[in-house]
Amino acid sequence: MAKTKQVTKAELKRIDHIVANYQGDRWGLIPLLQEIQEVVGYIPPEAIPRIASGLRLFPSQVQGVISFYSQLYTAPRGKNIVRVCRGTACHVRGGKTILKLVKQHLGIEEGETTPDMEYTLETVPCIGVCALAPNIVVNRDTYGHMNPKKVARLFSKENKV
Ligand code: FES
Repeated sequence: MAKTKQVTKAELKRIDHIVANYQGDRWGLIPLLQEIQEVVGYIPPEAIPRIASGLRLFPSQVQGVISFYSQLYTAPRGKNIVRVCRGTACHVRGGKTILKLVKQHLGIEEGETTPDMEYTLETVPCIGVCALAPNIVVNRDTYGHMNPKKVARLFSKENKV
């Protein structure tokens, strides 16, 4: 199970500083959220009431916008983002097994981050290189024709991505 990181006082201070720059600017919500994510790495749930009060919005409105945009995260993400393709071509060529193996190697489920903050695991629809199925993307690199050996090699301690 992924560990939940607590927001630090220093991070909250930085968040307050960012919010102060958008005081009362309801239309600044998205750039403000992006800025917080850029600085802190994610949008801590503790930031939501602070943002809402700064922009004179309801916390539920802030939460609604965060939930709507898949690029905004309310939990910290790992240094490496691992995306296993769930598209049809990858699925028929063993993508399900590859996903299972990646989960086993990392010890986490989809949407979770390893306790050492090294990896976050996600699944994605077709990434457009079906000829190489099954595929895994780690950060910006695509690893095609995945098989159990390649998965083991990719996530072995000696071969940190
Ligand atoms: S289905 Fe995986 S790349 Fe297309």
